[in-house]
Amino acid sequence: MGLTVLSVLSLFLLNITLCCGEAQDAELSLKPNVSHLFAGESVTFICDMREGNATDWLYKFNWNDQEMVHFTKSSSYSLYLTAELSGNYQCIGHRNGLTDFTKRSNNLTLSISALRPTATITADKTTIPVGGSVTLTCSVQGSAGWTFDWFRQIPDSREVVIDTNTLQNFVSVSDEGIYRCRGRRGNPVFFTNLSKVYHIQKTLSNRAFVTLQQNWTQIFSGEMITIKCEIQGGENTEWQYEWRTTSSKTPPTHSEYNISSASFSYNGQYWCKGRRDLFFSTAWSDAFTLKVSNKPRPTITADRRTIPAGGNATLSCSVGSYNEWKYFWFRRASVFSEIQVIRNEEPDQMITVTQGGIYYCKGGRGNPVFFTEDSDPITIEKRVSNKAVVSLEPSWPLIFSGEKITVRCQISLGGSTEWEYEWSKPDSSTGLPNDASINLNASVINSGSYRCMGKNKQEFYSVTEWSDVITLTVSGNRPKSSISADNRVLPEGDTVTLTCSVTPSTPGWSYYWYRGKKTSEPLTMAEVVLHSDGQIGVSQEGDYWCRGGRGNPVYYTDYSDVISIKQTVRNRPAVTLHPNWPEVYSGETITLKCEIPGEDTEWDYEWATSSSHQPPNQNEYKINSVSTSHRGHYWCKGRMRSAQQNSTMWSASFQLKIDYEPRPVLTVSPSWLSPGASVTLNCEVEHPSAGWSF
Ligand SMILES: *[C@@H]1O[C@H](CO)[C@@H](O)[C@H](O)[C@H]1NC(C)=O
Ligand SMILES: *[C@@H]1O[C@H](CO)[C@@H](O)[C@H](O)[C@H]1NC(C)=O
Ligand SMILES: *[C@@H]1O[C@H](CO)[C@@H](O)[C@H](O)[C@H]1NC(C)=O
Ligand SMILES: *[C@@H]1O[C@H](CO)[C@@H](O)[C@H](O)[C@H]1NC(C)=O
Ligand SMILES: *[C@@H]1O[C@H](CO)[C@@H](O)[C@H](O)[C@H]1NC(C)=O
Ligand SMILES: *[C@@H]1O[C@H](CO)[C@@H](O)[C@H](O)[C@H]1NC(C)=O
Ligand SMILES: *[C@@H]1O[C@H](CO)[C@@H](O)[C@H](O)[C@H]1NC(C)=O
Ligand SMILES: *[C@@H]1O[C@H](CO)[C@@H](O)[C@H](O)[C@H]1NC(C)=O
Ligand SMILES: *[C@@H]1O[C@H](CO)[C@@H](O)[C@H](O)[C@H]1NC(C)=O
Repeated sequence: MGLTVLSVLSLFLLNITLCCGEAQDAELSLKPNVSHLFAGESVTFICDMREGNATDWLYKFNWNDQEMVHFTKSSSYSLYLTAELSGNYQCIGHRNGLTDFTKRSNNLTLSISALRPTATITADKTTIPVGGSVTLTCSVQGSAGWTFDWFRQIPDSREVVIDTNTLQNFVSVSDEGIYRCRGRRGNPVFFTNLSKVYHIQKTLSNRAFVTLQQNWTQIFSGEMITIKCEIQGGENTEWQYEWRTTSSKTPPTHSEYNISSASFSYNGQYWCKGRRDLFFSTAWSDAFTLKVSNKPRPTITADRRTIPAGGNATLSCSVGSYNEWKYFWFRRASVFSEIQVIRNEEPDQMITVTQGGIYYCKGGRGNPVFFTEDSDPITIEKRVSNKAVVSLEPSWPLIFSGEKITVRCQISLGGSTEWEYEWSKPDSSTGLPNDASINLNASVINSGSYRCMGKNKQEFYSVTEWSDVITLTVSGNRPKSSISADNRVLPEGDTVTLTCSVTPSTPGWSYYWYRGKKTSEPLTMAEVVLHSDGQIGVSQEGDYWCRGGRGNPVYYTDYSDVISIKQTVRNRPAVTLHPNWPEVYSGETITLKCEIPGEDTEWDYEWATSSSHQPPNQNEYKINSVSTSHRGHYWCKGRMRSAQQNSTMWSASFQLKIDYEPRPVLTVSPSWLSPGASVTLNCEVEHPSAGWSF
């Protein structure tokens, strides 16, 4: 508000005339008291000179310094607004009676919009909760001074005014419907355009639930599932379903959301509600969280890995701890065999098996069946009652490095079963696996325990027990042979016994004998007298060796040391008969002599006989008239007279045979005599050469 020079002057004058009266600025005000106005409104300017009696003044109204109303007695002026009438308004008072005293009011600036405004309706929420209400608010953009009218419409009915001319710009409603409002002010009343309609719904008391039709604790990628919206107590209503989700998917407007193959993109929260009509719906359900996991792999376990003969094993397959799955079981007899289905849709997690093999399982559920991954395989062995026995061929307790040995596995009661063999042995580098026997060129590293088991070639996991252990002991030292003789001197006509032995002492040896040279061919049994294993008699002097050998091919010990056998000539007596007749007849006189060859030695003589006559201790035994009682064997030996401990050996035996007196035989030839012819008489005794006289 600016003070004009004139006003200042007036005040000054008034101060003089009125003395101490309160001279104030003239005031132009507007009814309604707003500055933002609209074409079509009616306003009233009121001019107040704030000095003296209002009736003392004449009033003039200016619009943008142009006179609109010339001086009148009326202090107010009503105007119907148009957009062009924006601008500054001022009133000027002229005091009657006094000298040309005028007073100017403040300038009042009006801005007038050409367009009628539109009310705006808002609400704190769009849906009336059960038992609650919604607050609607009406406003006119950028201006004040309004009162409000409220309207509600329900379907198939006309719009009704529910409140009018309220000073408050809000109402609280608890009924559904289409609401709108408008503002009003001034006199005559100016209405804003009606607001847009506002749709207020009402929540039904039925509760909605999002559920999973399958009622499973966990959902896996690839499964077919159905998410359902269920409305409690809503069975007789035809609902429309609405869904909200944090996933990237858009569920259909059905109660069922069929997902043919779950995946991570379905992960999220889901809400639903049912709508009965435009105005009535349930509240949103609680959130249902869908979490899709990776396709699971079941865990397979077994109470034992080896089925005892005649027994069984219990296998268990587990996807989760809930009974949601059925189990499918598979078996292969071996890694090369075909897969057999052994159980389909088994509701129990556990099965009992009696066969060996490679087993695995998977879980399945739903329709069509959704399968988990295959479990890891588990290998179950079955013990068969066949017995494996391991043996050594040859089975000597001590083997020497370089010998050829076969370790053999034999399986009893095998029938026509074909077996594969598994070995446990000290040196893994030798022998092919799976063979029934291992051929060894023995060396120290082969020493140790051997055992074997059989695996059925058709039913690969049908296996025998391990055999008992057999221990192979291989010595790295070559065995030694030693030779000995019972006599180093070979008596004439006699034999010496040679003995060969091998150390360390082990069985299985044959002995090889050599004479003259080690490298010569071994002696044959025709050349020696075999006494027993490792003992022979030899009757020839010479250097002898022996060695042992065994196995095939033969493994030889080292040669023994040499042993030399010398032949000595020793005196051997002989019993002789004198005269030396082939037949002796009883009654004849004979002499038995003990003859000791060799140098002149004085002997004492001893006799032995099987007859009943003991000859005297002399070199001759003269019998004047032999009889059959002298029949028998006679032996003699000599003892040195000078060294009684030295004696000859016994003579060979001499058999004395005594015959009865012989009968001569007379023969005549020719036997038919003619007179004058000579005749030959022949007298014969047995053994004609024996010196008979006739
Ligand atoms: C009111 O406005 C008019 C023209 O717009 C101007 O001439 C006059 O000085 C103003 N008066 C005051 C008190 O501001
Ligand atoms: C008009 O409104 C203003 C502020 O809006 C206020 O200061 C003034 O007193 C009001 N005048 C009347 C006559 O109500
Ligand atoms: C103002 O003047 C009128 C008549 O002109 C009179 O009726 C009224 O009483 C006066 N008021 C005052 C306060 O003087
Ligand atoms: C208000 O309503 C009138 C008709 O009554 C219309 O011509 C005008 O465009 C409306 N104003 C607005 C801002 O919508
Ligand atoms: C769903 O499963 C839970 C537990 O697994 C069980 O308590 C409930 O009864 C099941 N509901 C239906 C409808 O099968
Ligand atoms: C969902 O699947 C079920 C059975 O598979 C079928 O009956 C139903 O119509 C399907 N719903 C929709 C919305 O496709
Ligand atoms: C499995 O073996 C056990 C003894 O170990 C026996 O009690 C059980 O009956 C067997 N089960 C089957 C199915 O053969
Ligand atoms: C057996 O082993 C010995 C050494 O231990 C070796 O000299 C010989 O050649 C081998 N024989 C065979 C047939 O492998
Ligand atoms: C008697 O025999 C021994 C050995 O048997 C021999 O050494 C010794 O020379 C012999 N005596 C005589 C007198 O021949």
